[in-house]
Parts: sequence; structure tokens; C-alpha cells
Amino acid sequence: MEEVVRFTLNGKPATLIVDSERTLLWVLRSDLGLTGTKYGCGAGHCGACTVLVDEQAVRSCIVPVKQVLDREVTTIEGLARNGKLHPLQKAFMEKDGLQCGFCTPGMILKAYSLLRRNPRPSYSEILDGMEDNLCRCGAHKRIVEAIQAAATEMRGGS
Ligand code: FES
Ligand code: FES
Repeated sequence: MEEVVRFTLNGKPATLIVDSERTLLWVLRSDLGLTGTKYGCGAGHCGACTVLVDEQAVRSCIVPVKQVLDREVTTIEGLARNGKLHPLQKAFMEKDGLQCGFCTPGMILKAYSLLRRNPRPSYSEILDGMEDNLCRCGAHKRIVEAIQAAATEMRGGS
């Protein structure tokens, strides 16, 4: 059933009339044009569709949009601030943490959520935290290096 859905999207209010059972993924991509959130498996297995809801990583392909009412949603398009890339975005570029880039938005937002919980993760904690986000190009080693570099920068270089 269509209803009015309101939430905060990338720091701004979003209001739309939509079937509230539709997934957040397709509302973001089709209704709101935010195609940085990717469709991979569509079943919660790959992490390509990862976004932040109240700063926690969620898989938008299995979340009905009604679950984000009055909550704060951040997509990859909302991570840069004042024209400046987030340290994770910068590190993925500098460390070449991607090949085709399809998994990258989900990887970055999952890593954001990981570093929020644990600002100083060990190598194995990064592997554990990221293991459910898949990269079909096999860029995992460079992705982990990028997350380590971003974590260091976010801690002020220590
Ligand atoms: S597209 Fe959502 S987890 Fe794969
Ligand atoms: S860079 Fe291609 S899927 Fe990860």
C-alpha cells in the first residue's frame, strides 16, 4: 500500500509516497536516483547494497523502506562533506582498493561502520568485519590496506 514515507537522507529530509514494503535499495536507486548503492545478489549475501542507517551498516536489498521511517540514511553520495572526500574514500583511491568499483560503495560504508565501532582494528579484525562484503575482482588485500590507512588518518595519524 502506498503511504507517505519520511526519513533523513544524506543529511536532508526526504519525503515520498511509495509502497512502504518496497526495499530501501530500489527506493534509493529508482525513486531517488542514488545509483551509488549497488544491486548485487538482492538477497543479503554480497554487501553491494550496503548503506548506513543511523550510522550502522545495513543491506538495503532486504530492508523494506518502512523500517527507516524517521531514521537517518547515508549512502555513498552523502559521505563526502563540504566538497571533501571522507578519509575512507580517499584511502580507497590512494591504495587502489578497487578494480571495477562495483563493490566499492558497499565496502566503504561497511568499513565506516566498522571503524565507528573499532577505530583501531587489527588486520584480522578488519578481515573479520569485512568478510561478508564480497569483491568479485579480488581486490580484498588492497581494500584492507585502504581501511588501515583510513583508520590511521581518522585517528589523526597515530
Ligand atoms: S545486493 Fe544486497 S546483499 Fe547483495
Ligand atoms: S572492485 Fe570489482 S567487485 Fe570489487
